[in-house]
Amino acid sequence: MEIVIATNNKGKVREYRDILAPLGFEVFSQAEKGISIDVEETGATFEENAALKARAVYDLCRGWVLSDDSGLEVTALGGEPGIYSARYKGLQTEAERRRAILDALEGQDDRSARFVCCICLISPDGAQHLFKGIWKGVIAREEDGANGFGYDPIFVSEDGAGRTTASLPISFKETYSHRAKAVAMLMAYLRGADAVRA
Ligand code: IMP
Repeated sequence: MEIVIATNNKGKVREYRDILAPLGFEVFSQAEKGISIDVEETGATFEENAALKARAVYDLCRGWVLSDDSGLEVTALGGEPGIYSARYKGLQTEAERRRAILDALEGQDDRSARFVCCICLISPDGAQHLFKGIWKGVIAREEDGANGFGYDPIFVSEDGAGRTTASLPISFKETYSHRAKAVAMLMAYLRGADAVRA
């Protein structure tokens, strides 16, 4: 079975290839299928944005399609940066965006936050399934660590023993992260009864 990952991000395609190949999927990027769209993320939620991206590619190929959308929600900032995590306040670099979060939380007692990952899977008959992983934690007082990407240097997960995600081994995220949780749900679904045989 073929599946197209609805993204132009090569790293993401590689990750999903590693995950889905053992289940018998031949994983393709949009580009490999000649699909050159860059879907505008106009949804109001991670679910909506993941579905928008998957549906746009599905409409062009009518086969298995997978997409995901993820980000960081900070309680004291009313859930920001949320779906705007990759472009928070229009800031260009990840370092600037991390700095903006630390500055916004200056003097705040509530530093709770969570990472969210939403995976959207569409099967050849057009049925759509969403898998949502949540990873709770707090925002650190200052940056620490060089592993991972994005907000990892300022995120201390509930299972991180007080250390930022970026200061822990990469394998830690593979077990505990929002993405790992959403992928686990996806795998359970795909391994289940009729999903892959359909
Ligand atoms: P996207 O789902 O690839 O659009 O990612 C959205 C943005 O959320 C990224 O650019 C990061 O800023 C942030 N983000 C999502 N997942 C993580 C993570 O695991 N660690 C750190 N930042 C993340």
